[in-house]
Amino acid sequence: MESMNAPASRPLTVRLATTPLSGSVAVPGDKSISHRALMFAALARGETGITGLLEGEDVLRTAAAMRALGATVTRVAPGTWQVTGQGLGALQEPDDVLDMGNSGTAARLLSGILASHGIFSVMTGDGSLRGRPMKRVIDPLSATGARFNARSGGRLPLAIEGVADPAPLAYRLPVASAQVKSAVLLAGLNAAGTTRVEEPVATRDHTENMLRHFGAEVSVAPLDAGGRMITLTGRPELVARDVAVPGDPSSAAFVLAAALLVPGSSVTVRGVGLNPLRTGLFTTLREMGADLRLSNERVEGGEPVGDLTAVAGPLHGVDVPAERAPSMIDEYPILAVVAAHATGPSRFRGLEELRVKESDRLSATVALLQRNGVSVDVVGDDMLVIGTGGAVPGGGVVETRMDHRLAMSATVLGLIAVQPVQVDDTAFIDTSFPGFIALMNSIGAGLAA
Ligand code: S3P
Repeated sequence: MESMNAPASRPLTVRLATTPLSGSVAVPGDKSISHRALMFAALARGETGITGLLEGEDVLRTAAAMRALGATVTRVAPGTWQVTGQGLGALQEPDDVLDMGNSGTAARLLSGILASHGIFSVMTGDGSLRGRPMKRVIDPLSATGARFNARSGGRLPLAIEGVADPAPLAYRLPVASAQVKSAVLLAGLNAAGTTRVEEPVATRDHTENMLRHFGAEVSVAPLDAGGRMITLTGRPELVARDVAVPGDPSSAAFVLAAALLVPGSSVTVRGVGLNPLRTGLFTTLREMGADLRLSNERVEGGEPVGDLTAVAGPLHGVDVPAERAPSMIDEYPILAVVAAHATGPSRFRGLEELRVKESDRLSATVALLQRNGVSVDVVGDDMLVIGTGGAVPGGGVVETRMDHRLAMSATVLGLIAVQPVQVDDTAFIDTSFPGFIALMNSIGAGLAA
């Protein structure tokens, strides 16, 4: 992909699936874990081997950034990478702007690392990322002593004057964000003393788990009022340790949803990461009556993993509580598609964070459904979908707004729409799920290549 330019657009027309989907597939590696594996390996001393790495555009940006910061990052075989780091505090000043493409996770997490090294750096990204809020990390990270200069509204490009001896932070997250939590913890790695982050609601804990895996001391304690306190002891000896990346539950979601909706289908996705802070969608689908079977449960690379089989059948509407949102924050667009096909109304509560994703996913999901004849509304921060109890009218042109998850949700919607659905651009799917269309065709989706 050419630097800072959007990839050439790839429109797709999706037609109603008239035959069942079937098969057994594996989805690409977890995006959150893949970013962290590359970053933490680059901070550790020695050679880390990574298997199952997601080779999507977002993660490749992180690989390039860690290389620009002095780590040796090599692709050995598909999904198998080697990273050699020089140890904590040893990153080099990059000699050019770091382009994080479409990836908010890369930009936020890297901010914590850059702020806590005595180097100057500038980060930018694509049109979507340059519109996303960075103030949520700039504010806490400024207390390390690092200095940040951003565009108005705290947007990228962002210049960071990091400090070699950062002050440890104590921070209570104002929003439920694993990215902000991780940025603060990563800044704390190179700070003498103890860094503390309080999160009012538990968010994905891959940073905590993997830092421990690399030798850091991280403790997690529940808070009386709910949520958690995470405590990190600064300046650990981070030592290279191999990482096995599980399949991304947020990618499996699209395949499983399609299988639940296309009549007669039965599809297994093997090796799906089942960290309980990521599985809110699967809980919700079961509440809707989904036949979602778990088998072959195991622990791989410190994360619970299993095979999930989705069997199509009738689904009914659901009321999803706001507290569940962090454990399924990336899954609301596809859940909205499932709710459109279910019988009766659904309500998803507390979706304010969806407004600051790769697109404003609240309004983009509403537009996706409305343009395809589904009745949907937003009341405050809640989304209401009136399910049709079967195929949706379709016939709409969907704007995916540089958002991979919108593009995949629109594709699944097309499979259950009476009139063809036109997706304006599927190119951004490569940020998280390269090979999505081919994989869907391997289970019988019949999408034009
Ligand atoms: C992520 C955290 C979530 C999620 C994103 C990945 C992470 O973002 O939406 O896709 O890897 O930490 P927020 O921290 O903004 O909720």
